[in-house]
Parts: sequence; structure tokens; C-alpha cells
Amino acid sequence: MANEFLVARAFSPTNIALAKYWGKRDLNLNLPQNGSLSVTLDGLGSTTQVEFSSQTNEDHFFLNGVEQFAPSALKKVKTVLDILRSRKGISLRARVESQNNFPTGAGLASSASGLSALTLAASAALNLNLSKENLSEIARFGSGSACRSFLGGYVEWKKGEKPDGTDSVAKSVADEKHWPLSVMIIVINEKSKLYPSTDAMELTRETSPYFASWVEFAESQIPHIRKSIIERDFKSLAQLSEENCIKMHASAMAASPPFLYWAPQTLEVMKRVWSLRQKGYRLFFTIDAGPNVVIFSDDPQWDKIQLEFKDFDTIKSRIGEGAKIL
Ligand code: DP6
Repeated sequence: MANEFLVARAFSPTNIALAKYWGKRDLNLNLPQNGSLSVTLDGLGSTTQVEFSSQTNEDHFFLNGVEQFAPSALKKVKTVLDILRSRKGISLRARVESQNNFPTGAGLASSASGLSALTLAASAALNLNLSKENLSEIARFGSGSACRSFLGGYVEWKKGEKPDGTDSVAKSVADEKHWPLSVMIIVINEKSKLYPSTDAMELTRETSPYFASWVEFAESQIPHIRKSIIERDFKSLAQLSEENCIKMHASAMAASPPFLYWAPQTLEVMKRVWSLRQKGYRLFFTIDAGPNVVIFSDDPQWDKIQLEFKDFDTIKSRIGEGAKIL
């Protein structure tokens, strides 16, 4: 096979979970303890090129132009490449170049967009012709949240029941046109990488006395969150999402040693959201493994709401489409 045919590029958006994945039931297969549900963000994500070549004996991974040597990042990339190499029956190593189009330091889930873009580009480079479900399952091995970025709109990652994890894949709840919510990321510039999510969720599972009740709560909430999306019930989605977010963080805060993702400004933004809601505005927040807050709204007065946060750096987005080959 000629070398030039083994190159492809893909773009994959990041996604933000309204019902969070926090805790693994199988570390090797990267299977979650509970289902999760996210929205795909329009335009914010990773563009990744993968080239398999006989010219190199090692996989190389460049992020925003800089070669990465951190074992945790390389392990995720190699996990995905190894699965795809074995499907194709080749052993060629790859050069992976990935660019994030959101500011580094914005604390957005770059592993979700990065690992899904990598999976799509590498499978295209190898001409594997995989379905979105197959791609989702493979990306999950690299990073759990990445399995949700192949679809647009509102996406559920089924926990799955099978021990081999083949049913732990992402499914569409509704596409991006179903309910075009506005999205604004409030960027709170604290070091967001203090507690990488892979290690932090494992510490929570091993040591937090609240972990079991978090899992039970999170799993029981999924059908309600799904229903509020299908029915476009904003009040219900607002309450369910904020409760899910705060309970996830509470389980993490109770780990040993305890850790906290929130900064003082995180609380300031949460309280501002609640006070605006009391005044009748339609908005709610969620927070991932970092201090930044993501705000969602379906309010006709969205412009006015945005002005209430003009003292922060913000990134505007909306609900968008899933990953695509470029
Ligand atoms: C808080 O998907 O980054 O964003 O599977 O270990 O790579 P790994 O974890 P990752 O965790 C995401 C955690 C979260 C919640 C979510 O996206 O559901």
C-alpha cells in the first residue's frame, strides 16, 4: 500500500455533559458506572491529521504544534491507534497532529474532541469504513467523553450491560435542530489541569463515601433528562442538570484526599445564574472537571443575559453537529 494513501484529517467538536460521566466500572475497557448525556458544541473542537508511515518506528503526537511526551496523553492516543491497527492488520506507526480551535487554558474538554477526531481521522486514513457506533466504541477506549462527539445535538452514552462493553456506545437523543439552545462558556482562568479527570474520578470511586449514592442518583436521572430534552421542558432540564453537576462535584469533594475544582469566581457565576433565574430569566449552568462554567439558555432576552457576565472572558457557542472527515 503506498504511503500517501494512509493520511486523513477530521474535525470533531467538544461536548459538555448535562448528565455527567464520573466513575468507571471497568478500567481496561473504560466502561462507565452510569450513563451520561451531553450536548455537542458548534464549531469548538479539534482538527486532527493522522498519517501512518513506514518511515517511523514510533507514534508521534503533536498538540497545537508541540510534541507531547506526557505518558497519560500518549497512552490515550496509542490505545486508539492500536485498536485501529489491529482491525486493519497492520503495524505501521503514525504521526498525529492535532489543533484545538478554542483557547488553551479555556479548560474545555479537549480529550473529548481530541480523541474523537483522532479516531475518525485514523480510521479514514486506514479506509476502515466504520459506522458511527463503531467509532464511538473505539474512541471510548481513549477517553470516555470522546464517544459522544460523533453525533450532533443531544447525545446519550449508554452505560451498557454487556461485560465486553460493545453496547456502551453513544446514541442520539435529538439532533441540533430539535432545540437550538444558546451556550456561553465563562472562562475562569485558573489552572484547570490540577486534577485530571481520569485520576480524579478513580480517586472518587475508591475513596468517596458518597460515590455509591452518586452513581445511583446519576443513573436514575437519565430518563428524566432525556424526557425534558425531547419535550423541550427548559425548567425541568435546568433543575436536573444543575443538580447532576453539583452532586458530581460533591462526590468528588468528599474523596480522600479531598479536592475541589471550583474557584471563587465559579461560585460567583453560579449565584449570578440563580439570581437571574429568580428574576424570571431562562438560563442554567453546568461545570466539568475545572473552574469554568457553561451557561445554557433559551431566553429571547439572551443578549441581555450575556451583558450580565461582561466582566468575564466568554466564548459563545450553540448546539452543533458531530465529527466529520475533512
Ligand atoms: C467531568 O472523558 O476525560 O467531563 O474516560 O478517563 O478520559 P476518561 O475521562 P473523561 O471524563 C470526563 C468527565 C467530565 C464529565 C463528562 O464529560 O461526562
